[in-house]
Amino acid sequence: MTGRLISVEGGEGAGKSSAMAAVRAAIEGRGVEVVQTREPGGTPVGEAIRTLLLDPAHSICAEAELLLMFAARAQLVRELVRPALERGAWVLSDRFTDASFAYQGGGRGIDGGLIAELERWAATLKPDLTLLLDVDVRQGHARVAGRGAGKDRIEREREDFFERVRATYRQRVAAEPQRFAVIDAGQSQEAVIAAVTAALDQAFARWA
Ligand code: TMP
Repeated sequence: MTGRLISVEGGEGAGKSSAMAAVRAAIEGRGVEVVQTREPGGTPVGEAIRTLLLDPAHSICAEAELLLMFAARAQLVRELVRPALERGAWVLSDRFTDASFAYQGGGRGIDGGLIAELERWAATLKPDLTLLLDVDVRQGHARVAGRGAGKDRIEREREDFFERVRATYRQRVAAEPQRFAVIDAGQSQEAVIAAVTAALDQAFARWA
């Protein structure tokens, strides 16, 4: 495989959308094809699973939630990610397996070893670079609340859930510092974009 897989992670209100646009622009600026996707989702079956997962009308146990995340991911890898990487495109994903470790592992308390086994079997791939947009939980929530949109099933969780999600992301950075670029997402949007662009420049230099 010649392409690269880049994921963008972060808690609620971390500014993932504008960071994704900046990553995409940085890659396309170098004349490389970008395939952008999101998790859960990114394929017809994955998007159907996403609708199921995020619908506040459903009550879903932690185990089913984890398996549905990986069902969508297994499909995404085989239908979209691998073919793109094989033809040399770069895949930019709004979240990937780190989110399962953070939300289902940290947030719901599922054993990380089990998630690692699913990662090996169902996801099969790890990102080459993961940008973690790290923001204080309350600050992130205040931004989301400002949007006024209805909350999905996972956004309705309590603050301590999101504190565990954030802590787990940070533990993953500590365990694999070379794969992550941590961006202080509490800064202004301009500063976040500049930090994202700098992280991409470093990655390009490393991979040249
Ligand atoms: P989004 O907010 O980035 O659109 O992601 C949808 C939600 O799904 C978000 O609350 C994080 C959650 N999620 C998990 O809980 N586990 C996962 O593996 C993924 C990819 C997302």
